[in-house]
Amino acid sequence: MNILIIGGGGVVGQKLGRALAAKGALRGKAIEKITLADINDPAPIDGGAVPVETVTCNIADPASVAECVTADTDVIYLLAAIVSAHAEEDFDAGLSINLMGTLNVLQRARELGTKPVVVFTSSIAVYGGEVPDPITDHTFLNPQTSYGAQKAMGELLLNDFSRKGYVDGRGFRLPTISVRPGKPNRAASSFMSSILREPLNGQEAVCPVEEDFAHYYLSPRKCVENLIKGAELDEGELGQNRCMMMPGRTWTIGQMIDAMTAVAGPEPAKLIKWEAQPDIQAIVSGWRFDLRPEKAVKLGLSADESFEDNVRYYLEDDKPAG
Ligand SMILES: NC(=O)c1ccc[n+]([C@@H]2O[C@H](COP(=O)([O-])OP(=O)(O)OC[C@H]3O[C@@H](n4cnc5c(N)ncnc54)[C@H](O)[C@@H]3O)[C@@H](O)[C@H]2O)c1
Repeated sequence: MNILIIGGGGVVGQKLGRALAAKGALRGKAIEKITLADINDPAPIDGGAVPVETVTCNIADPASVAECVTADTDVIYLLAAIVSAHAEEDFDAGLSINLMGTLNVLQRARELGTKPVVVFTSSIAVYGGEVPDPITDHTFLNPQTSYGAQKAMGELLLNDFSRKGYVDGRGFRLPTISVRPGKPNRAASSFMSSILREPLNGQEAVCPVEEDFAHYYLSPRKCVENLIKGAELDEGELGQNRCMMMPGRTWTIGQMIDAMTAVAGPEPAKLIKWEAQPDIQAIVSGWRFDLRPEKAVKLGLSADESFEDNVRYYLEDDKPAG
């Protein structure tokens, strides 16, 4: 079993690589090799008994994709993407990476004729506009950003390539990942991690929305668990739409801060500065948070039990030492 993680240098890709190496097997077969591919040299990880290679690959370039997607690739995790605010600012980059990059990977798999499993990370950004709440498995996709539109188009491609038997695809619409390690990124949702991460690291952070702002979240640890389960599902279980919501939970900013206080004491919350940012508010206020991921739950995927878990996982898995 050879696994290729494209976007393997990113937050989810690195954690997924480590989790797969620790598990040692996928789809009932021992993992012989994991390859982390990314446009930026991915950080190497220690896979223990499982060899982990790193390669550079630009999914916007079909020749580069052909070098990293090879006939011995059994499972492809397609995580490479540019995030929401970046795709919104740079329309061409969004099209060439998020849309054409996805097509390039699928076309390469088709050309090889080996029908690999392809696990695609879509986003809840595919929902929006005038669709009624709650969002269910049968809600139509109505993205209100270029990023969301590119993910929705990726889903359609994944479904059609799967229907034709070129790949065995499965797509998961990720909730917003929090607490995300590392530095703030160019996603409009970046503050949804930084208002917890920075204070937990003893640093100040700015919250640009009100305490009652509600959104839909999942911890990185649960996300990785779900991506592994997602690869293990039988093709027959997926039905006529290979893409589904990944379970998360809805929390307000106030509930998230209370959870941080319950786990880490009262000091971190004092480091949050409240500064309204109308540009961020304008983007995030349209986001949907009443989601019912019934299909994924039936298939065995799950959400965090409480936001306290998200905070604990950050402290256990990611908080820098010292
Ligand atoms: N983190 C979230 O909250 C969230 C929510 C919804 C969906 N997602 C999706 O999950 C996936 C993983 O997210 P993440 O948080 O790890 O993001 P990330 O930004 O940490 O990782 C994405 C990786 O893709 C790489 N990449 C960008 N352009 C590339 C290209 N042309 N070729 C090859 N690699 C390229 C980047 O260098 C980066 O390492 C993405 O597809 C993202 O859209 C994430």
